[in-house]
Amino acid sequence: AGLSADGRLLQRSVFTALPTRSAVSHKGDHGKLLLIGGGCGMAGAARLAGEAALRSGTGMVSVGCDNSSVTAIVSARPEIMAFPVERQLGERLSWADAVAIGPGLGTDAWAQALWQQALQSELPLLVDADALTLLAQQPLRRDNWLLTPHPAEAARLLGVTTAEIEADRVTAVNRLQQRYGGVVVLKGSGTLICSDEGWALAVVGNAGLACGGSGDVLSGILAGLMVQGLTLVDAAYCGVLVHGEAADRAARDGMQGMLPSDLFPHIRYLVNQGTL
Ligand code: APR
Ligand code: MG
Repeated sequence: AGLSADGRLLQRSVFTALPTRSAVSHKGDHGKLLLIGGGCGMAGAARLAGEAALRSGTGMVSVGCDNSSVTAIVSARPEIMAFPVERQLGERLSWADAVAIGPGLGTDAWAQALWQQALQSELPLLVDADALTLLAQQPLRRDNWLLTPHPAEAARLLGVTTAEIEADRVTAVNRLQQRYGGVVVLKGSGTLICSDEGWALAVVGNAGLACGGSGDVLSGILAGLMVQGLTLVDAAYCGVLVHGEAADRAARDGMQGMLPSDLFPHIRYLVNQGTL
């Protein structure tokens, strides 16, 4: 269905791009994600993103985090690997198919050192949360990244107020894409996605997502689809719809008290909809 001359309303038909699994596949066929974040006291953000990637079908997830976060991440979800990173990411970058950076990263010297290394990699990047704050401090253009700002992060990236972003979200997401390149997901009620193919609107999700950690789950889904070989645009279209529809399924039990981790079983169900 058309939305306006230049925008489109996202429909479930995009799910045909979702990854599938052959009977003889092994974990290496389903992508390797390097997730950078989980600074001191923020292990939960990396854990949520890591599990969301796994629930989206990713073969392997490795989290580069603060030493204090390793046990918390691994014990909460044993399928996630985590390693303490001081300043250097080393060979983990050459292991990965894509990098997600930001959930629980912080903005201190440690975070800045990791951000600079991620930028030097040629891998596709998913850039969220505190990494977007670092990007706003030193704007760059890149084709192979997916940026996921909420309205306040978008405001920092464009040097305007959050109210100005919210007053005209379509213009905001277009300006973000023009300035930063790649694919931009402007989050909030009525998430917008903009690439050089134009913009699209997703009318899924609900106020049950208004809880810390919902964005981290979205980042994990998007990065998980990236490592499984989807184009950035397809990852954004499918990932935003999976996240929002998972939230709508979770909200059948009520929006009050709904948690981001309540999305996981629904994410698993939905990423199979391309094939079921
Ligand atoms: N309706 C629909 N969707 C919503 C609604 C709503 N009322 N409220 C929130 N969402 C969705 C957004 O579209 C987005 O996908 O929930 C997600 C929220 O993402 P974030 O704003 O990034 O929230 P959060 O997970 O708490 O971020 C964690 O990172 O971005 C920083 O400042 C943020 O420190 C915080 C951390
Ligand atoms: Mg966030």
